[in-house]
Amino acid sequence: MDQRAGAEHYAEIAAAYDGHWVYGAEYVPWMSARIAEALDLSATDRIADIGGGTGLFAREVARIVRPERPILCVDPSEAMLRQIPAPDRSGSPLSESLTPVLASAEDIADARTVLPYPELDAVWLKESVHHVTDPGATLRGLAQRLAPQGRLLVVMLPATIQYPLFRAALDRFEELQPDPADIEAHLERAGLRTRLFHVEHELRIDRAKYLAMVRGRYMSLLSTFDDREIEEGIEEIRATHPEPVLVFPDRFAFVLGVREGGTR
Ligand SMILES: C[S@@+](CC[C@H](N)C(=O)[O-])C[C@H]1O[C@@H](n2cnc3c(N)ncnc32)[C@H](O)[C@@H]1O
Repeated sequence: MDQRAGAEHYAEIAAAYDGHWVYGAEYVPWMSARIAEALDLSATDRIADIGGGTGLFAREVARIVRPERPILCVDPSEAMLRQIPAPDRSGSPLSESLTPVLASAEDIADARTVLPYPELDAVWLKESVHHVTDPGATLRGLAQRLAPQGRLLVVMLPATIQYPLFRAALDRFEELQPDPADIEAHLERAGLRTRLFHVEHELRIDRAKYLAMVRGRYMSLLSTFDDREIEEGIEEIRATHPEPVLVFPDRFAFVLGVREGGTR
């Protein structure tokens, strides 16, 4: 998907984005805990979530880590960032724990956008790396923003998925999705010590709810299909998945890179 189409897609779905995850109350805490664990986060880390969208996962990571300085939630979509709750007046430290930054991964990589922290101890990109036009150059630039012993984590879907989507959507996913092994190679070339592993979570979703998510184009991939194709796809899902609750594995590749030097 080109960058403009991507921006339009997120402008349209921003308000409903967090609701898409309501189906699995445990999913967001589970994923956020995996991110905090993989990055070995501590309260003193200077942290950024690149392509952080509505801050859904950054908020939960903040709940786990209780960072001393706000997590930077970086995203080029104003509509997505607007969903981050404004700091309240309750004095709750969590309400202050995210700082939205309107910028793309490329802006941070090229230092076109100056961040409040001169270096970052931990950075993650969750399901946003496929939006980056030149992942090699951008990941190299992001690696350069890391402090010694800084960690960069790319969370992405694997090259193939077992979602109960229609055939044409699964095929298009495989055409468009970057390969985690290539992302690992980019991080290695950027001078990081790397590791690629997978985490998996079982999803159970009412079929009616899932079909509504498909109609709402909950994955950016689905915005490459027009209304008629989506409705035909929904009919195909109905036929191939008559069961009232859809059960399928949600598997993610975690590509971790650590910058050498210094001590923690
Ligand atoms: C699938 S959403 C994921 C949001 C969030 N990371 C999450 O997991 O809920 C992809 C996000 O990437 C953002 N995005 C699009 N192009 C980007 C770019 N060039 N750099 C960084 N983020 C980008 C979109 O605006 C959107 O918020």
